[in-house]
Order: sequence, then structure tokens, then C-alpha cells
Amino acid sequence: MGKTIIMDHPLIRHKIGIIRRKETSVKEFRELISEIAMLECFEATRDLPLEKVRVETPMGGTTVECLAGKKLAVIPILRAGLGMVQGMQTLIPSARIGHIGLYRDEKTLEPVEYFCKLPADIGERGIFVVDPMLATGGSACEAISLLKKYGCRDISFLCIIAAPEGLARLKAEHPDVNIIVGALDEGLNDQGYILPGLGDAGDRIFGTK
Ligand code: PRP
Ligand code: URA
Repeated sequence: MGKTIIMDHPLIRHKIGIIRRKETSVKEFRELISEIAMLECFEATRDLPLEKVRVETPMGGTTVECLAGKKLAVIPILRAGLGMVQGMQTLIPSARIGHIGLYRDEKTLEPVEYFCKLPADIGERGIFVVDPMLATGGSACEAISLLKKYGCRDISFLCIIAAPEGLARLKAEHPDVNIIVGALDEGLNDQGYILPGLGDAGDRIFGTK
């Protein structure tokens, strides 16, 4: 059974407060998405295995703990997930990066796949799927189903803002997946946008509107 964590930290609350504002610039939006991803990554990696290693300090010998070398991969859902990659890499620099391209059909809100490029040994890796927005949950569920077809079993999903509808769907369809949420919002509007949300994350990261 995966765990669900709603981040409850003043730094994250503050930063999400800034990215919600419509006057926040593309530059600041992008920087903050990356910083929030890094803070969420800290929580998402809490259970990584450690091993004991003997070292010499200037004062003598001791035993320290090192990451046990579990192979990891970060999988952004294009486009907006790309904004979270740098923050993740800051904390787990040796993680491989795979890409899954999905866009939501504007009418049906169903995800449409247009790209998939994953590390060859993806099934052996601990996976962190990243996407700032979990709205209906269709895109996250589709990406995770795809990764499971490639043999992935140890999967965490990190988003910055979630709607209760999307969170419930993701938990129901993929109960084994760990979910890390920056903020849980009120719901969705008729077009499937999160309220109060922050608008279209991809457009705000890449300045396309
Ligand atoms: C956004 C967002 C998620 C998806 C969430 O992507 O980045 O991938 O919508 O919505 P859902 O939970 O209802 O599936 P979008 O389809 O707008 O594509 P983009 O990132 O290329 O702008
Ligand atoms: N995708 C976004 O970028 N924003 C939303 O509010 C919902 C889906």
C-alpha cells in the first residue's frame, strides 16, 4: 500500500502562494516550481535504503551511513513535468531521466500519449513520476500504467497541486503508488482546471500564453 503525503511545511506553503499569483513572472514561476520539487523530493526519498560504511575521520575510525546505491529514475510527464526535473536532480543527481509525453484532449479531458523514451533498465529502478498538476488524474494514471507495463513496481508520484478528484482516482487505480502533494485544492471547474490552482502549469513554465 502506497502512502499519501500532503506537504505541510511553511516554505512550501509560501512558495505555492507565490506561484498561484497571476502576476508572477515566467522566470520566478519556473524557479519556484524547481525549488518546490526539490523540497518534495526530500520527503519522497525518505525511505531510500542505507548501508553502513567504515570511514576514517581526522579523529579516528567510525561507521557512517551511505545510500545503498538503489537505482532511481525521474519521469516527467511532458510538458509541465519538465519544470520539476532540475529540483529532483539537485538531490538525486545520479537518477536517470525518462520522458512520457501526454496532453489532455480539451473536450474529453482524456490523456493522449505522444512520446515515450525511458531508460533501458527502467523496470529495475525506483521511479519518481513528476507533474505539477494532478487534476482529473487521467494523465498520472496513464503514465503510471505505462510504467507498470515496462515492469516498474516501486513508483512515487510527486505533484505540486492536486484536486481531490484526481487524488482519489490515482489512489483507487494505483493503490501501491506513493503520492506526494504540495497542496490539496478545492476541486475542478467545468474545463477540468484546478480551483483555485494556478492556471495552466505548462503555459506558465514555458511562457506560451
Ligand atoms: C497538464 C498537467 C498534467 C495534466 C493534469 O498537462 O501538466 O499533465 O494537465 O490533468 P489531468 O490530471 O486531468 O490529466 P497538459 O495536458 O495541459 O499538457 P502540457 O503540460 O503540455 O501543457
Ligand atoms: N492542467 C493544468 O496545467 N492546470 C490545471 O489546473 C489542470 C490541468
